[in-house]
Amino acid sequence: MMKTIKSLFLCVLTLAAASCGRPQQASTTGTTPAVERRVDALLSRMTLAEKIGQMNQVSAGSDVSNYSDAVRKGQIGSILNEVDPVRINEFQRIAVEESRLGIPLLVGRDVIHGFHTVFPIPLGLAATFDPALVEEGARVASVEASAQGIRWTFSPMLDIARDPRWGRIAEGSGEDPYLDARMGEAMVRGYQGTLQDSTTMAACIKHFVGYGAAEGGRDYNSTFLSERQLRNVYLPPFEAAVRAGALTLMTSFNDNDGIPSTGNRFILKDILRDEWGFDGMVVTDWNSMGEMISHGYGADRKEVAREALEAGVDMDMMTYGFISHLEELVRSGAVRESAIDAAVRNILRTKVLLGLFEHPYVDAAAAEAVQYAPEHLDAARRTAEESAILLKNTGVLPLDAARTGRILVTGPMADAPHDQLGTWAFDGQKQHTITPLAALRERFPGRVDYVPGLRFSREKKSHFDEVVAAARRADVVLVFLGEEAILSGEAHSLADLNLIGSQSELLAALRSAGKPVIATVMAGRPLTIERDLPNCDALLYAFHPGTMGGPALTNLIFGDATPSGKTPITFLRTVGQAPMYYAHNMTGRPYNGETLLDGIEAEAGQTSLGNTSYYLDYGAYPLFPFGYGLSYTEFAYSDLALDAASYRRDGVIRVSFTLSNTGRRAGTEVWQLYVRDLVGSLTRPVKELRRFGRETLEPGESRRVELELPVSELAFWGAERKKQVEPGDFQLWVAGDSASGEPLAFKVE
Ligand code: GLC
Repeated sequence: MMKTIKSLFLCVLTLAAASCGRPQQASTTGTTPAVERRVDALLSRMTLAEKIGQMNQVSAGSDVSNYSDAVRKGQIGSILNEVDPVRINEFQRIAVEESRLGIPLLVGRDVIHGFHTVFPIPLGLAATFDPALVEEGARVASVEASAQGIRWTFSPMLDIARDPRWGRIAEGSGEDPYLDARMGEAMVRGYQGTLQDSTTMAACIKHFVGYGAAEGGRDYNSTFLSERQLRNVYLPPFEAAVRAGALTLMTSFNDNDGIPSTGNRFILKDILRDEWGFDGMVVTDWNSMGEMISHGYGADRKEVAREALEAGVDMDMMTYGFISHLEELVRSGAVRESAIDAAVRNILRTKVLLGLFEHPYVDAAAAEAVQYAPEHLDAARRTAEESAILLKNTGVLPLDAARTGRILVTGPMADAPHDQLGTWAFDGQKQHTITPLAALRERFPGRVDYVPGLRFSREKKSHFDEVVAAARRADVVLVFLGEEAILSGEAHSLADLNLIGSQSELLAALRSAGKPVIATVMAGRPLTIERDLPNCDALLYAFHPGTMGGPALTNLIFGDATPSGKTPITFLRTVGQAPMYYAHNMTGRPYNGETLLDGIEAEAGQTSLGNTSYYLDYGAYPLFPFGYGLSYTEFAYSDLALDAASYRRDGVIRVSFTLSNTGRRAGTEVWQLYVRDLVGSLTRPVKELRRFGRETLEPGESRRVELELPVSELAFWGAERKKQVEPGDFQLWVAGDSASGEPLAFKVE
């Protein structure tokens, strides 16, 4: 009897929750019955116009009076791009003290890789393979931005990107869903903390979904991802971030398979709400609702406003579609007010969870004190050190400071304080940037000559007499190359990934001086640098390293720090290989290492070079694979072992291996564990990252590393349209990059 009553009671509760538009699953935002009661009570007092006002987000103009009247009337729920704490307080004062219901504003900003203290761009953060460090950086960003009244950041960007022509590859964590998910979780934790204090910010996971698969790598272009690709590659990082408690999510500009994300009910309701139970808030991207008219998905702003609301959008960024048309749509019966209630509930829940009703204001006078705090700069330096990737070293690095005489510093990125910050660093102030030139001059007073050689990356020059003469006078040449911040990021895709301008010519000219040449590339993407490698003795790749890039690179070049970064994205030999990534399918004709064009005698009648999947001119291998990076020491992997030969689907695989430092210096290795499902209901990637870790070892030291991998993490979305582990044969690797190591076989029963 009791059981019947209990199950009846649970059923009533579920129906009640469903009727209120709340997911019937456990909350992903961590809301509580008390929070929900507060939200419901406030909602019940709101007029339709006030509800719609909460769904309207505007970008602050130059004059607070532009919007103060609208705020006073409750026509604005959120403001972005206001960073002055005095003006933010004024907006909040009007909202809290002069509007009818006193609902505070949600103030948002693109705090993408730091606020004032700028960290490496997210692609560089991913290169650290160090989620704890990335979480620390997100926490620093949150402390600095929230001190000025910003309590919502449009970060982390979780778009998987496998085409380096796409400029926004700079803003994400690269090509791999597992690495991307770990980075996204870390940033959500760093921004949101426990949401118990006003130094937190709501995270906003974006751009939902598939934006990085833009055809041709051209930003905003269409994508054509199957549901299987979405389920197995593009959605998992978002699901992980939702499970980590992300409070908000942003829709993407792209149409996927003919449907713009901002109007895509399947992803915004069926997957996000019904499957994942997300009870956070969904905001559009900048005017992405309005862009559905351009997409040809809606005839006018009223139609796209209805489409977005019905698809599951809660807040409209800068289309003014909701504020202009929703009231009319409700009055005409085209839209139910309950749909608006559900959206406003998500918005109010976010504001209550952030404590905005209790703490709408900041101490504007105190905001300055936390910006660029020494501990923040230290965290940025440590992150820049860990994010740099050593791609070549003939043994010239690390330099011995005591035995290095004159140093020539050259190249367009040697002293570029703004561009070193990278894309999406709006609030980074270049006067705080420490460039390599500044750091080297401070470290070696009187021993540094600076001859730029090129004033900027795109400069074209045919003669480098002055800088070559300076190289001849020096003992070592440190050349800093790459691309300015403007050459990556939103709307900045490139069709040619070679070092732009005459940078390769500069490097070749420097090489002719006969002195050791150490090249550092600062860029927002993996450039095609194969032709430049012969012209340097060592090459460090620093995805725009941020405020402290100069001290970090100086420490790395002179051995005060040892490189440990690994490529979070495949480095191509030429742009024509795009897209190329490690987790590709085997195909029916896997490349078998056949001789390439340049090795072929032009024999009459020769019909083919082996009919496999490769390029006649550039083969089938990249310049550097995913997960690759050198150290100043060497590491060896041995005695890889599994605790069984076969496992149940609910089992746990216990993996162990020995990692040894076989070199003469201490160093940190990022080990990586990959698996392959040999036969499935669908064709599967040749390998997929499932674990990684960092081990710091002294010279000669060995360490037995042991870890557990639940068999459930081998699950994938298969032919039966559900995520499950399929029995069969598997392989497992542990190595220092995605192209190394020998596999161990095991079975799943
Ligand atoms: C931009 C970007 C998005 C950003 C938003 C607000 O167009 O696509 O990532 O958060 O607008 O600046």
